[in-house]
Amino acid sequence: MRLVLLGPPASGKGTQGDVLAQRHEIPKISTGDMLRAARAAGTPLGREAASFMEAGKLVPDEVVIGLVEERIAQPDATCGFILDGFPRTVAQADALDKKLKALGAPLDAALQIDVPRSLLLERAVLRRIDKRTGQIYHLKYSPPPPEAELVHRADDQEATVQKRLDEYEAMTAALLPYYEARELLRRVDGVGSPDEVTRRVVEALAR
Ligand code: AP5
Repeated sequence: MRLVLLGPPASGKGTQGDVLAQRHEIPKISTGDMLRAARAAGTPLGREAASFMEAGKLVPDEVVIGLVEERIAQPDATCGFILDGFPRTVAQADALDKKLKALGAPLDAALQIDVPRSLLLERAVLRRIDKRTGQIYHLKYSPPPPEAELVHRADDQEATVQKRLDEYEAMTAALLPYYEARELLRRVDGVGSPDEVTRRVVEALAR
């Protein structure tokens, strides 16, 4: 399976991507995770990305396109992958299309997780991640176990989340008509428990 996960910030792409990656035994490739790792390692790319991420802005296309092109050509991605948070602009989607054509490995679907903006702020602000395992938790909806070593993402402060949501509406929402025109778009309602959403995702991908 080669799948793109679309949806606004905190809609549940990472949560559902982890479940699907485990079920299909393919990697989940998150550009957000890759950029945060580069920032933590202090690489030139990480330093360049940091100022955009902290401002709730998209990192320039040429930076993320290069990262993803390299990653999907790795041996563990030959049987498939789940792209979480990429593409986010039409230029990124065109670059992905070109790369997959060259690899002879077309996309199977682009899955949009729909969650109203009014719920997204709370999902982001109360998100916590276990830094040892990468497991995603929510202080209200998916409480962490006591032994988890929790981190709060720097861009999950309320003001930055609002900017990320604006950026999504301005830049990334255009991918819905893009993938609809290519008959690849599947949409699921992302409101409900994570398990309920997983059931809808599995159904939508079987269609
Ligand atoms: P990125 O890390 O990709 O962030 P995002 O797209 O904003 O998405 P999130 O990780 O915030 O949320 P999610 O949809 O994965 O939700 P999750 O499952 O965690 O990007 C960060 C930044 O990096 C960007 O702002 C940009 O600067 C840069 N960047 C990354 N990719 C880029 C690209 N391609 N181009 C340019 N720049 C790029 O869930 C959220 C919370 O809700 C969790 O607490 C979870 O437990 C909870 N939750 C999940 N499902 C449910 C449910 N059904 N009910 C209740 N709670 C739920």
